[in-house]
Amino acid sequence: MASKSYSHLTLIYSYIMRSIDYSKWASYIYSISKLLRRKNLFTLELACGNGIIAGKLSGKFGYLCISDLSIHMLNQSGDNLDKVCCDMTELPFKQKFDFVFSTFDSVNYLMSKQKILAMLNQVDLCLKQDGIFTFDVSLENNSKLYQRYLNRKGSVNGIKFIQKSYYDETKRIHNNYFEITLANGQKVEEIHRQKIYPFEDYFNVIDKSNFYVYKCKEAFTDIDATPESERAQFILKKKRIQC
Ligand SMILES: C[S@@+](CC[C@H](N)C(=O)[O-])C[C@H]1O[C@@H](n2cnc3c(N)ncnc32)[C@H](O)[C@@H]1O
Repeated sequence: MASKSYSHLTLIYSYIMRSIDYSKWASYIYSISKLLRRKNLFTLELACGNGIIAGKLSGKFGYLCISDLSIHMLNQSGDNLDKVCCDMTELPFKQKFDFVFSTFDSVNYLMSKQKILAMLNQVDLCLKQDGIFTFDVSLENNSKLYQRYLNRKGSVNGIKFIQKSYYDETKRIHNNYFEITLANGQKVEEIHRQKIYPFEDYFNVIDKSNFYVYKCKEAFTDIDATPESERAQFILKKKRIQC
């Protein structure tokens, strides 16, 4: 996603995300953390974006570290948070966390199943044996239903943008194209690509890791997710150590 236009894109990203109910999303993540039945959790957020959810959750955990591949995104997050700029497939942490989470399709930015497995293996290394790792994924019905709403234009602080969204069913890639016109008239372009994996693929990849699927729900609900769901919330625990 990185390009020289990225700092402008983070501004636009923050603008278009303003309609998201992040308080609800933060409460949902917090409710999942309660499955651990202990307090003062040592927590890590992967692909935190501009850290809005972390801002709402920081007081609820013993410690919360946020991370993202984009320094521009991290720079927009609150100053009171510990931030690490890193790829979720190559985590630098030596300490072990109780709870690791990622929100809002971030895992869909991993363009191969090998990358998803690499992320799982990296989280395994920095999660306590009885810890929980949770993330959501956008599924095909989400792309099909919402792509037309993602064709839009607007302006933020004198920067105009046009967003075009297209889901390629054959390649299972959801493309979001941004054309940004800066205040001085200069145009920059950015394409975001997300892989929309079949629901079953996640289970197959997770099977190859040290995790198992403890629960997989339609996001924000207690309904079991299916291939027809729009967004699935995976809640993973570690497999038991074989003696
Ligand atoms: C759709 S945004 C979601 C951001 C945030 N979780 C939220 O809920 O607003 C996806 C985020 O994933 C980050 N990202 C993409 N690939 C990544 C990777 N390999 N490692 C870490 N972060 C990544 C992007 O920089 C971006 O901030």
